[in-house]
Amino acid sequence: METETRPDVDALLSAALSEVAAAVTVEELEAVRVRWLGRKDGRLTAVLRGLGSLPVEDRGPIGAAANRAKEALAEALEGRRGALAHPGDARPAIDLTLPGRRRWRGGPHPVTIVVDEICDIFRGLGFTRARGPEAETVWHNFEALNTPLDHPAADEHDTIYLGPRTVLRSHTSPVQIRTMQAYEPPVRIVVPGMCYRRDPFDASHAPAFEQIEGLAVDEGVTFVEFKWTLAEFARRFFGAGTRTRFRPSYFPFTEPSAEVDVTCMICDAAGCGACKGTGWIEIMGAGMVDPAVFEHVGYDAERYTGFAFGMGPARIAMLRYGIPDIRMFYDSDVRFLGQFAR
Ligand code: DAH
Repeated sequence: METETRPDVDALLSAALSEVAAAVTVEELEAVRVRWLGRKDGRLTAVLRGLGSLPVEDRGPIGAAANRAKEALAEALEGRRGALAHPGDARPAIDLTLPGRRRWRGGPHPVTIVVDEICDIFRGLGFTRARGPEAETVWHNFEALNTPLDHPAADEHDTIYLGPRTVLRSHTSPVQIRTMQAYEPPVRIVVPGMCYRRDPFDASHAPAFEQIEGLAVDEGVTFVEFKWTLAEFARRFFGAGTRTRFRPSYFPFTEPSAEVDVTCMICDAAGCGACKGTGWIEIMGAGMVDPAVFEHVGYDAERYTGFAFGMGPARIAMLRYGIPDIRMFYDSDVRFLGQFAR
């Protein structure tokens, strides 16, 4: 008989808390409060009131439990009242079934990949990396490179002039001049950097573009070293089976000058659209440094010889990755650029 009248405070509390959670209006919540904690008929109030009729040894523990339950219920009522009064404060539900978002990962630009690879190959051949300014004097950009200002390359039609004697460099070749002015031979450098020309922005031209310049000057640098170095570069970059040919050409700062072709890496020299059926693709201009250039920088042209070359890494990246339009490098389209992330 005694055990049946002893109230189960834990069960009462969990029933009360379920009602609190189920209340969806402030009025419903108030009804829950009255049902459990109301002064007259509250079920928990009744337990506290009835303590006196319990056996003496039960009064302490049940009284304490009932008081804790009353506090917990009051707190739950308070919390629920806040949530019903300010629904905006409630945290949004999290949908655990949504697919996760991929983390963004940056990667180098395809032209940067090619520039770094070319410079690494030349580092392996004994060249260091050099830099120079993009705003240049006409002397460094043209005259010291044996290019008179009435040469078509110096024409305002092709070159962006910043002032009467200042240009945005139209090639990286002026860094040859700056390096030779600053250092005595031996000099072996590669120079990556931006160049600027008044060119139309079309599938194969951009008004701002990368070049890589190369220069090697020492006693006894020969045409054989020149040809071997560039052929070895082509093998390391395009593949061991790549062959190279040197076509006579003209640049004011080299004599003799050549355009360097490699066997077409797209059709394996069988003849395709990229090589216009010839099996060969031009990758750079080059030549033996003209003694007139040495005189401009104060090098002894009797003692030293050298070779130089210049190439466009964007063009090489287009060949390597099969990219049809140079403008894709400038569009910053992550769907395009993301394909090169490593
Ligand atoms: N500066 C030339 C150009 O922009 C490229 C070039 C050709 C650089 C021959 C050289 C060279 O150093 O020897 O078209």
